[in-house]
Amino acid sequence: MSQKDPGRAICNLFVARYRLRGVNDLLLRALNEQPVERVPVWIMRQAGRYLPEYRAVREKVDFLTLCRTPELAAEVTLQPVRILDVDAAILFSDIMVPLLPAVPGMTYAPGPQLPRAITSPDGLKPPEAVKEVGFVCDAIRILRRELDVPLIGFGGAPGTLATYLAEGGSAKHFAGLRLLMNRDPGQAHALLEWLEQITLLYLKMQVEAGAQVIQIFDSWGGELSRSDFDEFMAPGLQRIIAALKTDGVPVIFFARGPLRDVGATAYSVDWTVDLAAARARGPVQGNFDPAILFADPATVADKARAMVAPLARTGYVANLGHGILPETPVECAQAFVRAVQETPCL
Ligand code: CP3
Repeated sequence: MSQKDPGRAICNLFVARYRLRGVNDLLLRALNEQPVERVPVWIMRQAGRYLPEYRAVREKVDFLTLCRTPELAAEVTLQPVRILDVDAAILFSDIMVPLLPAVPGMTYAPGPQLPRAITSPDGLKPPEAVKEVGFVCDAIRILRRELDVPLIGFGGAPGTLATYLAEGGSAKHFAGLRLLMNRDPGQAHALLEWLEQITLLYLKMQVEAGAQVIQIFDSWGGELSRSDFDEFMAPGLQRIIAALKTDGVPVIFFARGPLRDVGATAYSVDWTVDLAAARARGPVQGNFDPAILFADPATVADKARAMVAPLARTGYVANLGHGILPETPVECAQAFVRAVQETPCL
């Protein structure tokens, strides 16, 4: 390196820093079933109220302002990467965000609240209106500059989005969509197809902006009978996932309850599903019960090791079986991550 060439010196310094930091691509390799030194781990809903640093930001801004402000969304996305040292970041947003242009007046308290229940796309904006939520792409671009772990983009499954729409927001019993599917199957299909188009456009926007993996959250899909899922949900999910995979992006499909094949790269399963049996079908993610994080850190670590050890090879991503709960002690989340990371691969 010549001292007379400051440009070069700066460039080499950058390369050295980059090498020093290294780029952690364990998640991408595990999903592609390429060799890994250890199992990658991240936590569903890892940015959130259990972190004092998140609560400090939320004291200053409401939830939707946080989602709409790229610098703030990027900041809270980075918090768990720094605090927990996880092997992936997930964009900070919410599954209902792509519906903001079509559903004016949506608020959060803390779950989504709509001015009225929606059971038909009639009179609502066309799917292309989702392009108005470009702030999500701006957050992704900031994050790709900052991160040295892969960035996961995400969306809700059309069926789960429809569940909240048909209910008018969070509710105690989510029967609204199932009632619609029986009362007026044609209208249910129309609503789901509208949501399918929004979801595909929205996820493609994220990939174009730099999301390296997509996770689809189908939190309510497991509530449906096999035949209803196959008739109403599976075809749309298969079309969305096939289109994303054609673009070369791995897709993780999360659902509660039974594992249903929709053509995903990997399936994120909950603690009611047998992990080894799920892994035998293909790459898998999960499935630590978030309630275990309320035990003491040593117990958490023991149980995490017991989950990971039999699967400690590629094709497996350690995670919870559903989102982390707001009252979770941070040191228990850290104990979970560390125990996975210290388990050697076979
Ligand atoms: O790190 C991350 O994963 C954060 C990004 C994220 C949020 N929501 C932020 C959020 C993600 C991936 C979601 C997904 C989501 N949102 C799902 C699917 C996953 C699941 O848990 O089943 C669903 C069903 C929603 C809808 C939703 N948003 C609900 C039901 C609620 C209220 C309940 C709750 O968890 O608090 C929200 C609000 C929400 N989304 C919060 C956060 C951090 C809390 C809002 C606040 O700060 O007040």
